[in-house]
Amino acid sequence: MTAVDLVVSNCTVVTPAGRVPDAGVAVEDGTIVAVGRSDRLPDADRTLDAEGKVLVPGIVDAHIHNREPGLEYKEDWESATRAAAAGGVTTVVGMPNTDPVIDRPEHLERKFDRGEASAHVDFGTFAVITSENLHRIPALDEAGATGFKIFLGSTVGDVPAPTDGEVLEAMERVRETGKRLGFHEENGEIIDYTEAKFREEGRNEPIDFAHSRPVIAEREAIERMITFAEETDAAVHMYHVSSGSGAEAVARGKARGVDVTAETCPHYLWFTEEVLREKGNVARIQPPIRDAEERARLWRAFEDGAIDCIATDHAPHTDDEKGVDDPFGNTWDSISGFVGLETEVPVMLSFVTEGRLTLEEWVYHHSTRPAQVWGMYPQKGSLQVGTDADFTIVDPDHEWTLADRHELHSKSTVTPFEGETFVGKATTTVVRGEVVYEEGEVVGESGYGTRVSSVED
Ligand code: DOR
Ligand code: ZN
Repeated sequence: MTAVDLVVSNCTVVTPAGRVPDAGVAVEDGTIVAVGRSDRLPDADRTLDAEGKVLVPGIVDAHIHNREPGLEYKEDWESATRAAAAGGVTTVVGMPNTDPVIDRPEHLERKFDRGEASAHVDFGTFAVITSENLHRIPALDEAGATGFKIFLGSTVGDVPAPTDGEVLEAMERVRETGKRLGFHEENGEIIDYTEAKFREEGRNEPIDFAHSRPVIAEREAIERMITFAEETDAAVHMYHVSSGSGAEAVARGKARGVDVTAETCPHYLWFTEEVLREKGNVARIQPPIRDAEERARLWRAFEDGAIDCIATDHAPHTDDEKGVDDPFGNTWDSISGFVGLETEVPVMLSFVTEGRLTLEEWVYHHSTRPAQVWGMYPQKGSLQVGTDADFTIVDPDHEWTLADRHELHSKSTVTPFEGETFVGKATTTVVRGEVVYEEGEVVGESGYGTRVSSVED
């Protein structure tokens, strides 16, 4: 056999199916051509010695706000995917609450074109469904939307929520595309009412923000969407499930045979709402970070299979918009969201170190399962021969502290994880056989990343 392009050797290869020590992967033309024991891999033009570290299929983060087009001052494809590369993330899916919103094929195509021009890693994009564009669902499908998103409650970008009637109709139409419809699942009437009441009462602290979007708003929205999906046979997804109550509702839906998938985010598993008292509006996000009891129940539901995917909800804003200089200022003057692409792997690996999940389970939830849920598997999320050579190499024992958020590669660096200590870090990121991040440097070229087509499952 002639030499292949790249061999990564001397690592423990981990997939959901298990682990192989002393192993590696061989790559030709951006595609995996062999996986196996290091000593049986072919010769290569370039050999990467992973020095005993762990190699997994590239991490897939199917929930990021990259803000392009229109809000590039917060983040853009280049900066978000630079952070992704540095965080060990090889595929991202961008959210549609940009300016303009991604509600028609021309906007989707523009978003893809911008990504093709500047992304460091591979990407997809969700299309939004509002009251105005139900008729465009087939065209958005044709134009390559990874899936569809409905915002049920008010959120950043003020995308108006459709009525329940329109949501049912949207489910019927999305079902015809074979793709999945995800929800920002908070009951808008509950959160709008509670926020107005709190404002009236002068409850202006960061913790008041968290309490203004109560768990019941999430749980009710999940239950309602599951009921609608049961009626319409649509495949639905619950983004950013923040509470045990919400995750348990997902589990009940799965048990009833509804095609419902769900994700949670590292911050809901790591913090409790106390972080709003400690770090103020920096930790403000919607849905909010919950109390200790809800977090414990979320963990239990996660362990019991309610949660499919880990994703960040990477939501960049400027220091000014977040009110970083005065983090305990009036919460209603701040904005929701913070970045996460460079802390998601460290957070999850820290949980692995603590024994809360195995490496195999981590890879399943953070690579394989999101790729399956969003129609990218096995091209993404696997180490099968013939698929894209996307890998994340991690040092699961490396202890470190995010001492200064300005070390991050994104435009926005606001994160409640500043000052937190982790065990585990991505050390090398490979996208279709090209090293895009190694030894602390983003080495890939802007524009290398390409869009991933979703296939119907
Ligand atoms: O906190 C949030 N920020 N939640 C969302 O749903 C949207 C996001 C954003 O776009 O900033
Ligand atoms: Zn989001």
